[in-house]
Amino acid sequence: MTESRDDPIPLVRRRIASADSLCVFTGAGMSAESGIPTFRDANASAFWAQCKPEQMASPEGFRADPALVWRWYAERRAGVRAAQPNAGHLALGDYARHHPGRLTVVTQNVDDLHQRAGCPDTIRLHGDILRDDWMDPCTKAPACAAEHAVPGTPPRCADCGNLLRPGVVWFGEMLRESDLQAAERAGRECDVLLVVGTSGAVWPAAGLAGLARRAGAYVVVINPTDSEIDHEAHFCIADTAARTLPVLLAGT
Ligand code: OAD
Repeated sequence: MTESRDDPIPLVRRRIASADSLCVFTGAGMSAESGIPTFRDANASAFWAQCKPEQMASPEGFRADPALVWRWYAERRAGVRAAQPNAGHLALGDYARHHPGRLTVVTQNVDDLHQRAGCPDTIRLHGDILRDDWMDPCTKAPACAAEHAVPGTPPRCADCGNLLRPGVVWFGEMLRESDLQAAERAGRECDVLLVVGTSGAVWPAAGLAGLARRAGAYVVVINPTDSEIDHEAHFCIADTAARTLPVLLAGT
């Protein structure tokens, strides 16, 4: 049952202040005010408008055109490197500093803004865009070794031809089991779950809200528009991450 008060902020602040364990689950909207477009807005430029993000972010898309996907990610990596944590990331970092051991951040974001804002142990369900991984297990040498790449193409192993790829989880790929388990443990054990800036459309990550709610957590969604997991929340705050988190967390 969703509580119906006009202004949820004081009530949510009280819940956070009395929580022994706070979990914050974030999506692309968390970084929107840092200038990183949300996943589904990522193709704002005319050139990339022809490419579907779901196609770029998939093993099939990469195998079909590695150079195109590599260039798409190069642009996104440059955007992440240029971005700075916003007031929402910084409010979480402050909370973590003032309450050691109380906060777990679980993110679907592949940027490093939570880490740079003071939450180094953030659980990254969808990986790290600034890391490179090998596409396939090495078949010839004991380990692949990247050789110098033609600009605009992914480096390749000189021995077996394996390609480097961004260290993110793509559509159709499994999440790392240890990350998923750590996130689910945080969801089950928290007193309050804040769900910030996610459409709740991508599973299994989106299941965290329901799991936490069933385990007894007080669940609050922060998102200027409706999400697919609003029904799991006790309250939905229709505002942005950078405006709301500092208000909820200051002095708690
Ligand atoms: P989406 O792009 O699906 O959704 C972003 C959400 O953020 C939307 O619901 C927006 O309303 C909300 N939003 C926008 N600006 C906001 C702001 N300033 N403050 C708060 N909320 C805001 O992104 P995700 O839900 O993160 O996965 O998408 C989940 C996953 O889908 C991504 O991690 C990515 C993609 O597939 C992979 O790459 C595997």
